[in-house]
Amino acid sequence: MKHAQPKTVYLKDYTKPAYIAESIHLDFDIQGHVVTVTNQSVYRCDDPSHPPLTLHRGKYPQLQSVRVNGQEVDHTLTDTELQIPYPGDAPFTLEIISTLTPSENTDLEGLYVSGDMLCTQCEAEGFRNITFWQDRPDVMSVFTVRINADKARYPVLLSNGDLLESGVMDDGRHFTTWHDPHKKTGHLFALVAGDLDYIQDHFQTMNGRHVDLRIYAPRADMAQLDHAMHALKLSMKWDEDAYGREYDLDRFNIVSAHDFNAGAMENKSLNIFNAQLVLAHPETATDDDYNRILRVIGHEYFHNWSGNRVGLKQWFQLSLKEGFTVYRENGFAQAVNDPVIERIDEVRLLREMQFPEDAGPMAHPVRPDEFIEIRNFYTMTVYEKGAEVIGMMETLLGATHFRKGCDLFFDRFDGDTATTEDFVQCMEEVSGKDLTQFARWYKYAGTPEVTIESSYADGTLTLSMTQKTPDTPGQTGKPPFVIPIRTGFVGTDGQDVREETILLTQDRQEFTFDGFTDKPVLSFLRGFSAPITLETDMSDADRLFLMTHDSDGFNRWEMAQKLGLQAILHRLAGGPRDQDYADALIKAVHALKDVKKPLLARMLTLSEETVIAQNIKTNVDPIAIADARHTVMQDIAAQAMDVMQDLYDSNAGDDIGQHALRQAALRMMAAVDAGHAVTLAEGQYHGATTMTERVGALSILADTDGDARQACFDDFYNRFRDKELVINKWFALQAMAKRDSIIDDVMALQQHEAFNLLNPNRLRAVIGAFAIRNPWGFHHPSGRGYTILADTIIALNGRNDQVAARMLSPMRQWKIYTPDRQDLMKQELKRILETENLSNDIFEVASKSLNG
Ligand code: TRP
Ligand code: ZN
Repeated sequence: MKHAQPKTVYLKDYTKPAYIAESIHLDFDIQGHVVTVTNQSVYRCDDPSHPPLTLHRGKYPQLQSVRVNGQEVDHTLTDTELQIPYPGDAPFTLEIISTLTPSENTDLEGLYVSGDMLCTQCEAEGFRNITFWQDRPDVMSVFTVRINADKARYPVLLSNGDLLESGVMDDGRHFTTWHDPHKKTGHLFALVAGDLDYIQDHFQTMNGRHVDLRIYAPRADMAQLDHAMHALKLSMKWDEDAYGREYDLDRFNIVSAHDFNAGAMENKSLNIFNAQLVLAHPETATDDDYNRILRVIGHEYFHNWSGNRVGLKQWFQLSLKEGFTVYRENGFAQAVNDPVIERIDEVRLLREMQFPEDAGPMAHPVRPDEFIEIRNFYTMTVYEKGAEVIGMMETLLGATHFRKGCDLFFDRFDGDTATTEDFVQCMEEVSGKDLTQFARWYKYAGTPEVTIESSYADGTLTLSMTQKTPDTPGQTGKPPFVIPIRTGFVGTDGQDVREETILLTQDRQEFTFDGFTDKPVLSFLRGFSAPITLETDMSDADRLFLMTHDSDGFNRWEMAQKLGLQAILHRLAGGPRDQDYADALIKAVHALKDVKKPLLARMLTLSEETVIAQNIKTNVDPIAIADARHTVMQDIAAQAMDVMQDLYDSNAGDDIGQHALRQAALRMMAAVDAGHAVTLAEGQYHGATTMTERVGALSILADTDGDARQACFDDFYNRFRDKELVINKWFALQAMAKRDSIIDDVMALQQHEAFNLLNPNRLRAVIGAFAIRNPWGFHHPSGRGYTILADTIIALNGRNDQVAARMLSPMRQWKIYTPDRQDLMKQELKRILETENLSNDIFEVASKSLNG
């Protein structure tokens, strides 16, 4: 291997910083391609052993000078650090001058160029790419920032906090000075300079603060900002109502950037967003886009308290802000939209993305205790499972105590940093509950597997439960978790006889319930009350009953999923079609078609192929999975073409439920009569007034051959060629297609004039969509799908390691596939590991995948 083993960082090695950085003054002088950064910080040594001051050195800053209290000092510069000898006990001013060339920054971490603007991304360890600093989350300082630039080229100059001063200088230059009174860490620093326009609104906080809200974007995007502003105001109000948390400055800015590694960033008072998560207009954004924007605007806003006011003691605690903030985001979305639908979509995401992670070689606890690159730990486990863990605490404590615990947490750690243990302890203090065993959810990886057997006699119901959590890398023989299983006892009339939250706390446990007059039907794990897999002995008849009768909307969907999955698994094992399930689903259609359109749309959508693969676990053949899934769709649709046609015809309206249901019906019809579906899709495309309808039609056409496909895709490209985000859809729809020519198609897309390896959105639209959203194509028996992915990773190495490492995720679980595929995937992982100068990011994922 051509890569020296990089260093692993362990939680147990944590020590607090030797120096306290009280304040930092940053001056940015933007002159042509070069930015001169002057960093004047006041430090004081906090360690009696008087160690040198060690600052992180990132990839880009070119050091010009180092002065302590005005005097040049000796210093040592390594690849990753700058060391200054102990300058004495008294507070001292350290001035470091360095230069940057943002146009050379392809990592999009630190200060970089997006379009005509300069912007920053500092989480997790990008601030060191801007200046020399103790770049760690437990160093919090007061920031003052001055930006100087050419006024014509950069009329807008933004940073965190309040605008203190602005003015013009000679030779066409101007400046702004910003001061953020809230202490913050380097990862929350932000700067934007560009020729941007903005929309403006305001929000009055619960204590009467008037907040000026602005969303900035390049001029071409101005017509697409209203939804984001609406979402921002809803978020600010909701955080006051649900958590009593108020905004704390006079300004809140959002900036939209077309080049961005992640979704969005919660920089104090200056959130920077991937354009994809801000821009919306019915003609260019789908219903799903609208909802994602709402959620992410909320998410970043909520970080103002969960993440910014209360920070992290170390990066190991990442879920303290991310899991909690996702949980807050979920609460917000459930308050604004249909809570059942939101919950279903949360669980779909968890199963599709987090469960595989938790079952693979990179499985890690919600609070990891080691990593090579923290950038590889912005994971589904830290975010989504972390949110589920918070939700289980709310279930255990009840809403009132949970809210008290949150209040205590925010108040106790305001302006400071904390750990997940601190959070749990607050919950213990307000509730008097001992959460020691519960806290195992933070320490152990893996998805618990729960089984339930029930028996009934003479009015008494007995439930025998077991739990077992698979071994994960470095963790074997796990102790039992506290698993809250919200259970409905449903009478034959469909009404609840009672509901209980059963707490499974041991490996094996029995529960009895009496006083029943009839044997109830059991609705387990309502609302998905714990992130587990569940096997029960319930009959299909009971499932069919719950599918149409359960008062818990989530479980109605869940029963349909389960029955569908069972039918698919039977098919894969060579079994016959499941007539009962198909009949019951059609019955549900009749019962629900006028009242619960979005729910019905989801009931008519079978488990995703990756979810089916997780249920098989070994010798997975994604092509056989896709075939079996398709056959089950045919079984359903074949006897109900008229019903599907009726759903399609009667839901031509413009609300999201109609859109979703119409699309589900169209998909069903396509399984039986592709020609008919193409005709409908073509008509739908040409008559469309919204992007949802257009994308729906194209997703049907994408899998076909022929003139209609070509004509609609060409029309789409020409119609939207100047809309970057829409063209991403055009790429992704083709990369996700099930066509025999898929491999050549994806290679051709990479050669397209509009393809750009270094724009993360475009890259994800082609390679991400193909490798993650198209298992049927990616796992082509030739292995060429794997080669395409590996070539991309190797091409990105050293240019954008973060995005490259992330893109490797579909290779992690190579062991679950057929032996021939395993060999081909291993071969590509090895080839990646042979790359010269392989980055730590890619090394960590590739080596752990191969050896884990
Ligand atoms: N903190 C961001 C969030 O809200 C995530 C994020 C934004 C991020 N940019 C990043 C993570 C860059 C890693 C690298 O979830
Ligand atoms: Zn976040």
